Amino acid sequence: MWRTGWRRWARVRGRRVTVGALWAELEQAGGNGSGRDLEWLLASHLGCARLELTVRRAQEVGPRLAARIRAGAGRLAAGEPLAYVLGTAAFRDLELRVDRRVLIPRPETEQLVDLVLADAARWARPGGRLVEVGTGSGCIALALAVARPAADIWAVDCSRRALALARRNAAAYPGARLTFQANDLLRGFPAGHWDAVVANLPYISSAEYAALPFSVRGYEPRRALESGPTGLELIARCVRQAARQLRPAGGLYLEIGADQGAAVTALLNHAGFERVRCLRDWADRDRFVLGVQTAVGPLGQENVTHA
Ligand SMILES: C[S@@+](CC[C@H](N)C(=O)[O-])C[C@H]1O[C@@H](n2cnc3c(N)ncnc32)[C@H](O)[C@@H]1O
Repeated sequence: MWRTGWRRWARVRGRRVTVGALWAELEQAGGNGSGRDLEWLLASHLGCARLELTVRRAQEVGPRLAARIRAGAGRLAAGEPLAYVLGTAAFRDLELRVDRRVLIPRPETEQLVDLVLADAARWARPGGRLVEVGTGSGCIALALAVARPAADIWAVDCSRRALALARRNAAAYPGARLTFQANDLLRGFPAGHWDAVVANLPYISSAEYAALPFSVRGYEPRRALESGPTGLELIARCVRQAARQLRPAGGLYLEIGADQGAAVTALLNHAGFERVRCLRDWADRDRFVLGVQTAVGPLGQENVTHA
């Protein structure tokens, strides 16, 4: 009985199938493996635009490709994010490889890159140096390096596995110059070393982490998300280090949780930063805090070279 059922299943699975039939089969299976994500999955495997799928309904798909699409749809149905299933994510005009070693870049982080690029005179001049702390896939540092190929840009992360993927992403953009380093935040770098410090660090508290949906908590790396009991631990430590390590008039650019605007603004003010601003994202939520090192720096460094 079991053997007969298996033979019939193998016969059905071994056949060529039209895109329309496969699409309907997977839609019917339902759950997370249907809808918009399923369309992206089909389009990606067929090498076409998502909106082109309807005109491809009659196209035939061989059994091997159909099996790969079914496997991807199965992963979506289990709750895995589309970016991990496809193995790629778009960030600005970059196409990045992503897997479970790194956080999937979020759209609001593209705005952080815009803010840092708008201030490029501060760090992209000859002799200037920028560091991205907690680079993950490398999305921020790489987007900056592609936009400013002559700049001296560093990318650090405590995860060697994430750095391996970030290096691979950077290798796909040979014009971009990046220095990668495994490090605990900015520990060990000298005072007055950077013209800009940029970070999208984990900002979720342990309680918030426990309440995250399975599609996030079950797949994305915990240490890319959770900061500690309050959610502010890593940001606070990075602010203190940046206050020591930024050159006079250097810039600090942070992405934060929507409920952390007041607290992170206070951290920067307390550390002696000037012109501290909290900015909102496209969804009108507090998302970024920016500050400028004093003109003489906390250690009385002088020779201000830029405003
Ligand atoms: C929220 S993810 C951001 C990844 C990427 N920059 C982005 O915007 O998509 C935070 C990153 O910080 C790294 N991280 C966590 N704790 C760190 C630490 N103490 N020192 C350096 N990096 C850390 C994680 O490994 C993770 O890659």
